[in-house]
Amino acid sequence: MTCIPTPDYSHLKCYDSVYEPSEDSFLFLDALEQEQDFLKQINPLICVEVGSGSGIILTFLASILGGKSHYIGIDINEKASQCTQQSLCHHSIQNYDCICDNMLDSLSSRMRGTVDVLLFNPPYVPTPSDEVGGTGLSASWAGGMHGREVIDLLLPQVDSFLSDGGVFYLLTVEENRPGEICQLMAAKGLIASKVLTRRARNELLTVLKFIKKKLSKDDLK
Ligand SMILES: C[S@@+](CC[C@H](N)C(=O)[O-])C[C@H]1O[C@@H](n2cnc3c(N)ncnc32)[C@H](O)[C@@H]1O
Repeated sequence: MTCIPTPDYSHLKCYDSVYEPSEDSFLFLDALEQEQDFLKQINPLICVEVGSGSGIILTFLASILGGKSHYIGIDINEKASQCTQQSLCHHSIQNYDCICDNMLDSLSSRMRGTVDVLLFNPPYVPTPSDEVGGTGLSASWAGGMHGREVIDLLLPQVDSFLSDGGVFYLLTVEENRPGEICQLMAAKGLIASKVLTRRARNELLTVLKFIKKKLSKDDLK
């Protein structure tokens, strides 16, 4: 396995208002590194990260896939969106858009069925529901009941935005009930698996992978 360097994020001076890369971010990088052969093989044209924060994950993906893909970073926190842009620019990534918005709301319906790689390291911490919905630093962690309230906003949209053969990676903690998420996505025809699991302090973190099956001629009959 080729070792992919962790993107330099020391130039960013935004961590009073933007999520600073932590164990969850680094587990996500390790999962993508492990997945690099698969990711190259599907030859992605469009890669989207929801909740791009500092930009470390999208920059890392771009360093695996190179210039043939287009990278879209979306974050509800305006300062995070600016940081993502700075990170991509700092690492000389050229084909990108950074958007400040909620989830996939700003992707037009024409983009349905076109996203080859979708990434989300969400706000996963269980919190009271009234802490969910901010646009500042609290949006990095506040996940509401079971830490699932923000995750559950994205899940129903994944299938329609992924291309055939496209892949979605999602980081979860145990409290998010990853097994239940896999069942939900499998019911939509996505093939679910675990890429990596690691305990970091009191959190059992797992990166899940969901593949949208390519339809065969038999499926279309
Ligand atoms: C745990 S942080 C991950 C940041 C970065 N991807 C990383 O791994 O270091 C979650 C990110 O999701 C963003 N976020 C939360 N709710 C969102 C929403 N509804 N739409 C888009 N981004 C959201 C937060 O602002 C935050 O940057």
